[in-house]
Amino acid sequence: MTGARTKPHELRARRRRGQHGCWDQLIVAPLWVAYGANLGTMLRTCDAIGSCLAVPRTAHYRDALQLGDTLRGRRPCIHWVAPTKEGWLETQREAGRRIVAVELADGATPLTRLEPARRSTVLLLGHELLGVPDEVLATVDECVEIPMVGWGASLNVAVAGSLVAYRLAGLS
Ligand SMILES: C[S@@+](CC[C@H](N)C(=O)[O-])C[C@H]1O[C@@H](n2cnc3c(N)ncnc32)[C@H](O)[C@@H]1O
Repeated sequence: MTGARTKPHELRARRRRGQHGCWDQLIVAPLWVAYGANLGTMLRTCDAIGSCLAVPRTAHYRDALQLGDTLRGRRPCIHWVAPTKEGWLETQREAGRRIVAVELADGATPLTRLEPARRSTVLLLGHELLGVPDEVLATVDECVEIPMVGWGASLNVAVAGSLVAYRLAGLS
């Protein structure tokens, strides 16, 4: 049985106090995601699980995140990716982070078997039509696939990214 609906201010009081700090254990990186609505959704997911968000340092991403920011200024830490995505990814690798892609690919780990991140991890999400580029996919430490039984070829990228991010954060 459930009780009365909890008020938003009561929910907030039970959670983290103060501004998000750079947790660094999980950086969600929708580097190829194009649609503003998907970027806004990922921003909210990052806030919910306490992770950081990494996006290219371009006007498109800045504007999309500003528009999709429903967190009234208390948004998660944003890592601006520059000058190139490839160069930024190399820096993450050199810093000892694991690179995990969310993609439908041969040899991918099914979501049901994915373990929470034990060390600092970058989570890559692909473009709405083109996915994660093949040359990047070939270099990642792990690829995660969400099993599907329906007719659709794939999930919405923000849904797929959020499911995997929750799991890596150890919250589902
Ligand atoms: C709509 S899908 C891209 C599909 C694209 N036509 C392709 O074949 O690569 C956009 C992104 O959502 C994510 N995605 C969607 N469904 C997924 C699933 N079932 N498992 C893992 N990733 C998924 C991946 O990051 C993918 O790059």
